[in-house]
Amino acid sequence: MFKLTGKIAVITGGGSGIGKAISLLFAQSGAEVHILELNQEAASAVVDEINVNNGKAYAHGVDVSKQEEMLHVINGIGKVDILVNNAGIAHVGNLENCKAEDFERVYNVNVKGAYNALYSVIPLMKKQGGGAILNMASIAAQVGITDRFAYSMSKGAIAAMTLSVARDYIADGIRCNSISPARVHTPFVDGFIAKNYPGKEEEMFAKLAASQPIGRMAKPDEIASLALYLCADEAGFVTGNDYPIDGGFIKLNN
Ligand SMILES: NC(=O)c1ccc[n+]([C@@H]2O[C@H](COP(=O)([O-])OP(=O)(O)OC[C@H]3O[C@@H](n4cnc5c(N)ncnc54)[C@H](O)[C@@H]3O)[C@@H](O)[C@H]2O)c1
Repeated sequence: MFKLTGKIAVITGGGSGIGKAISLLFAQSGAEVHILELNQEAASAVVDEINVNNGKAYAHGVDVSKQEEMLHVINGIGKVDILVNNAGIAHVGNLENCKAEDFERVYNVNVKGAYNALYSVIPLMKKQGGGAILNMASIAAQVGITDRFAYSMSKGAIAAMTLSVARDYIADGIRCNSISPARVHTPFVDGFIAKNYPGKEEEMFAKLAASQPIGRMAKPDEIASLALYLCADEAGFVTGNDYPIDGGFIKLNN
């Protein structure tokens, strides 16, 4: 089940964390994987790992916030069956701690980056007669999280764009869904803990882990498994939805 044989998958931010786990699993499941990454070295390392294991993958240096770069690379690939909009950055702070440049930085990557990929891929998918799109949202799109003003804004936009694209292109055979993870142990989490809570890393990690009723953070592989299902033909009846994968964060935190 859940084979992606013959499919071409574009994964943004596939050089690290969740995107890396998705890239490895999709390649293992038969897809030709194209990683679009700011960190080209990281993307190349993932591509090497895939190729060594007899998969097929390519690394493309792309800043998702730049539409010209995105269009150039996507049109060069030419055919895209699966798009995973995964690249994202964090900002910790409430509204008063969020300067205009913080807001714009998060917006440019998390919102405009996803829009740029959708804008580039949709015409190709329409021409091909279909495709599967998966956007990486967050529990921050569903519930109020302390000190995540800009980040929550960006993930709310992802949830809304998912619905809009799913509705507009349903007749073209294009499915569009999103995943909302709670905390996943990736360099993203380690990075914002190190940056925002220096000297209190262990305490903060334990606090974030305990905030999932299940008592830990997710592993990137657990998110990749859900991504595989949602992008596979077996999920052909699934569109216009968000799938929390959150260790009980949204519904069991009482
Ligand atoms: N880790 C979590 O707890 C968590 C929870 C919910 C949602 N998410 C979301 O999942 C996604 C992946 O998160 P992760 O934890 O794997 O992060 P990560 O930092 O480990 O990986 C993100 C990757 O995106 C790349 N990237 C950043 N800016 C880019 C740009 N402008 N252009 C191209 N690539 C760029 C980075 O180089 C990096 O390799 C993000 O959208 C994040 O918001 C993460």
